[in-house]
Amino acid sequence: MSVGMRRLVQVTVGAIAGLVIAAAVVWWTVEPPPTVVRLTEAVASGPQVGGPFTLTDHTGRTVSEADFAGRFMLIYFGFTYCPDICPTEMQTFAEVMDRLGPLSDRVQPMLITVDPARDTPEHLAGYVSLFHPRLVGLTGTEAQIAQVARAYRVYYAKADVKGPDTYLMDHSAAVYLMGPDGRFVTIFGRGVTADRIAEQIRTRIVGG
Ligand code: NI
Repeated sequence: MSVGMRRLVQVTVGAIAGLVIAAAVVWWTVEPPPTVVRLTEAVASGPQVGGPFTLTDHTGRTVSEADFAGRFMLIYFGFTYCPDICPTEMQTFAEVMDRLGPLSDRVQPMLITVDPARDTPEHLAGYVSLFHPRLVGLTGTEAQIAQVARAYRVYYAKADVKGPDTYLMDHSAAVYLMGPDGRFVTIFGRGVTADRIAEQIRTRIVGG
């Protein structure tokens, strides 16, 4: 290898290492470490993820996990005032439904808010309708949201508080796939593609 070539390789490797470190920093900043640790532990040690909940849907109806029995539940915890990640994931959910075609009847996509104070049923109704007619928005009391978040090992906390109605929410950004029996199937990291989710669901419905 010539000196010039070696230098080029060194610079390239250095640049790639820099990008990886930068990406890791962004990841840990956006995604608080406790979440990742908890999720990793949950998946690795296999304790129960999910379980019973009682919430209010975007039409104002009281619902529980039993109302969705027999369908795969595609669940995301977020909030409607989220500037970027949440809308992207909801767009992904819409694409999953479109990709599944008729099989989408077997799937219930849902957004569970971690910001029940602002995400009233009425507010959620306007939000979910922006993405997909089958998307369900779920809210509840602070206690109900805390309970379901605990059951799914979800982290959330107020951030950037500038006033009683002006704040953001830090929250874990994983996508949960629960089976028709209500049991945990798998979890997808932030930014998962619609193709990947749709393929995982299709495989479980029609076999791989
Ligand atoms: Ni968000």
